[in-house]
Amino acid sequence: MNILEVTQLEKVYGTGINQVHALKGVTFTVSQGEFIAIVGTSGSGKSTLMNLIGGLDTPTTGSIRIRKHDIAALTRNELTIFRRRNIGFVFQNYSLMPVLNVYDNVALPVTFDKGRHIDHTFIEELLKELGLWEKRRKYPRELSGGQQQRVALARALANKPALLLADEPTGNLDSRTTAEVMGLLRMSAQKFHQTILMVTHNELIAQSCDRIIAIEDGQILGKGGDGLD
Ligand SMILES: Nc1ncnc2c1ncn2[C@@H]1O[C@H](COP(=O)(O)OP(=O)(O)OP(=O)(O)O)[C@@H](O)[C@H]1O
Ligand SMILES: [Mg+2]
Repeated sequence: MNILEVTQLEKVYGTGINQVHALKGVTFTVSQGEFIAIVGTSGSGKSTLMNLIGGLDTPTTGSIRIRKHDIAALTRNELTIFRRRNIGFVFQNYSLMPVLNVYDNVALPVTFDKGRHIDHTFIEELLKELGLWEKRRKYPRELSGGQQQRVALARALANKPALLLADEPTGNLDSRTTAEVMGLLRMSAQKFHQTILMVTHNELIAQSCDRIIAIEDGQILGKGGDGLD
């Protein structure tokens, strides 16, 4: 089953001489359970693609279907709820809440969802797996970049999302922690039947994924993008 269908996606930022054509007709599908690496040079359009799939920004043209829902057809409220229930994000800049401690940052997406109870046992498990349990009462500013990165990952996994979008989740981690985080992602993906799209500059990590989607200058390069292989 296809969990994600991206069709002829175009994104143009700005107007006139400031115009940037960040995505130029990107089409691909992703089956449920796939672990996909998205690679490409800086400025090629990777974060733009992730933001559009996550419904954080809207495409100029083209469509995105997640679990058969055209996300452009959802109202703002519906999109918020849909995102909360189906998508986990790890951003390039972590975007943790400075006024909340580690534990509350991780529990935050679940707290927002009034229809769901907080699974404290699961959050404890996540924090322990990521080596953050001892830091649970610390605030983001008291953590290193790598620790903040791991908090952001725990937060993205707290809702057990069907689709995890991770923009360089191992970018600030040393090689040992990178291996641990990758192990956790694989375990989580298997246990909760998750699909993962992960931007990475790490060639070894990319090679270890089920499929690599390479983006250059807003377009998918070569094979791998048509969903047929
Ligand atoms: N909000 C924005 N307004 C205007 N231009 C933007 C905006 N966001 C991205 N761009 C431009 O769109 C292009 C693609 O940017 P994007 O952030 O998607 O690249 P990237 O592949 O994620 O790069 P990196 O590996 O450095 O994170 C770049 O030329 C960038 O300058
Ligand atoms: Mg980026």
